[in-house]
Amino acid sequence: MALFLGIDLGTSGVKAALFDETGALRASASVDYPLSRPRDGWAEQDPDVWWTSTVEAVSRVTAGGAEIESVGLSGQMHGLIMLDADGKVIRPAILWCDGRTGPQCAELTRRLGRERLIELSGNPALAGFTAGKILWVAEHEPESMARCRAILLPKDYIRFMLTGELATDAGDASGTNLLDIRTRRWSAELVEAAGVDPALLPPVLESCEIAGKVTRAAAGATGLREGTPVAAGSGDNACAAAGTGVVREGSAFTTLGTSGVVYAHTDAPRIDPSGRVHTFCSAVPGGWALMSCTLAAGASLKWFRANLCGEDYAAAKAAGKNVYALLDAKAAEVAPGAGGLIFLPYVSGERSPVLDERCRGVFFGLSAVHTKYDMLRALMEGVAFSQRQCLDILRSLGARADDMLACGGGASGLWRQMLADNYKLPVRGTLGESGAALGAALTGAVAAGIFPDLPSACDKCVTRGEATEPDPAAAAAYDKIFPIYEALYPALKDAFGALADYREAL
Ligand code: XUL
Repeated sequence: MALFLGIDLGTSGVKAALFDETGALRASASVDYPLSRPRDGWAEQDPDVWWTSTVEAVSRVTAGGAEIESVGLSGQMHGLIMLDADGKVIRPAILWCDGRTGPQCAELTRRLGRERLIELSGNPALAGFTAGKILWVAEHEPESMARCRAILLPKDYIRFMLTGELATDAGDASGTNLLDIRTRRWSAELVEAAGVDPALLPPVLESCEIAGKVTRAAAGATGLREGTPVAAGSGDNACAAAGTGVVREGSAFTTLGTSGVVYAHTDAPRIDPSGRVHTFCSAVPGGWALMSCTLAAGASLKWFRANLCGEDYAAAKAAGKNVYALLDAKAAEVAPGAGGLIFLPYVSGERSPVLDERCRGVFFGLSAVHTKYDMLRALMEGVAFSQRQCLDILRSLGARADDMLACGGGASGLWRQMLADNYKLPVRGTLGESGAALGAALTGAVAAGIFPDLPSACDKCVTRGEATEPDPAAAAAYDKIFPIYEALYPALKDAFGALADYREAL
């Protein structure tokens, strides 16, 4: 049976996963890496650490000697990687969750007008998207920009190292603010407005096209066969869509990974005129997505665990348990509504739906009766409320979520229940829960001719799991507190701005 590899370059680590023609997982390996925050609101990673980690993960998978037919790539979106004339990385990658480019986005908006930007790129200029980062480097590090010969997105750097080819795909390129999302090509108007030399941008392919073949050097490093085809792949969200079978209108998924994403497939580009949610090309040619991104979903929980859960960590270790499983159980002991405590998950600033890189996290309603676990429950509920707000917007724009899938390490157990209760929809996992890595692998399998197209690959390889049904009592409790959550950002907006001014003057 043919075997195909998916590589998912995430924010907390890289995963290499090998699947067969039924979608069964045959082997997998993950390697974690750090995220650097050189300043409040900044987020960077070293692309060479991505590559060495990918080599390690892939080598562990190929160690079994399996014959691998194809490779597909998935990755965190929006990051800026700059290469010099020798193909060397010029500076650390600036990531999707980096909020430094507010002034550059304002400048891009001034140059083109917000309406035109949204009309062409499907999105307003957003801190986190790539164009603003290019403007930032040009302004703050002109010497880096002068040396730059190629601009890549994160997974495209892995492709470059595997195949020597510079390429991207329409889905990932949609997150740059430089692509015309209707024609699925770079927009001369957007590229010119951003002051980007078009020669720096790689060709844009569809996800299931072959973008290159594994070189001898990369084969030596990873254990892959020289000449193995590598598909264009896509951003992690378009790949998660393929990995959960969300490739037709009517189906949607929610990811709780480092970020939180609600994604609905659409057969035509549907655009939010006010830009609160994104429109991107999907991995299916002629398909698009309406999608939201809560910047800190799992990242909020990770912050809470790292700073406040030392004892829980020790207890979990002593019991041979995963600390997140223990925290899930502790949060489940608290009643829905967390005793009137509300969390705004803005610890990295926020994208959807408030579009404000200067806001910050809030615990609202804290009282002397609250415990750490009430805070934990409130934190998880705040992330779920953010997904609910985003799903409401997606639906108001005509996206359908008749069928809601779940994806990502966080979207299980209590968090999945909270999603079902807030959406008032059954939320279903997939067997093996391989998400973006499976989607990436499927782009490779289609490129190699194992399946005729992505939807038929999904039909063969994605198996739906049990649904988590909404609990009416919890849903009623959330209905009472959710309007208070929604009222908080507008009430705090000016104070967030004043606090950002204060921080920036420090
Ligand atoms: C999507 C986004 C995130 C990253 C994280 O717009 O920024 O979901 O792709 O991996």
